[in-house]
Amino acid sequence: MKEESLNWEERYQEGDTGWDRGGPSAALMQWLDAGAISEGSSVLIPGCGYGHEVIELAKRGHKATGLDIAPSAIKALNHSLSETGASASSLGVCADLFEYEPAQPFDVVYEQTCLCTLNAKQSQDYEKSLHRWLKEDAILLLLLMQTGDAGGPPFHCDLKDMRQLFDPSRWSWPTKAPLLIPRPKGPRFELGFILQRKS
Ligand SMILES: C[S@@+](CC[C@H](N)C(=O)[O-])C[C@H]1O[C@@H](n2cnc3c(N)ncnc32)[C@H](O)[C@@H]1O
Repeated sequence: MKEESLNWEERYQEGDTGWDRGGPSAALMQWLDAGAISEGSSVLIPGCGYGHEVIELAKRGHKATGLDIAPSAIKALNHSLSETGASASSLGVCADLFEYEPAQPFDVVYEQTCLCTLNAKQSQDYEKSLHRWLKEDAILLLLLMQTGDAGGPPFHCDLKDMRQLFDPSRWSWPTKAPLLIPRPKGPRFELGFILQRKS
């Protein structure tokens, strides 16, 4: 991701999408294989981009919603969903996540490389939205970008800071070791945690 201020729609229009894996993340596949997502779950993916994970979830019978501010990304996602025949219960929604209010809370939220694009103040607002978007006891599949760099985006999601942001009074953190997911290019990686929303 470039360091200057981001115009996401322009990035998609110019094909400047170096973050895109071209397919669903290994983290999602591992969590699916481990049965982390119950059958027929409603799943929200904020900042989904082209939504490879939305498509994978939809193919497996989940009700997946991909949310993104970039119209081109959502148009491509909805086209892919219709091609896979998975558009009946899954969809892409073009909206600003800071204004998005779903009609119903979700069983699962999958967070991948959206949080790391937000500054500290935006991250605090985002945590409140994530909590509000989930049903009580529902789960947040959380991938934390590890860059080791100062500044961003992408911002380094320092674990100490993340445990403050996702406060244990509002989120149960797992005791087991996180997933370690390499980024497609370079030395960066993500740490994957399953958090449970508390009331
Ligand atoms: C680094 S990209 C990651 C995309 C996708 N999660 C992936 O892993 O390929 C960040 C995404 O967040 C979206 N985004 C950034 N700010 C947003 C906002 N305020 N509301 C909705 N989407 C936003 C961008 O359009 C972009 O698609």
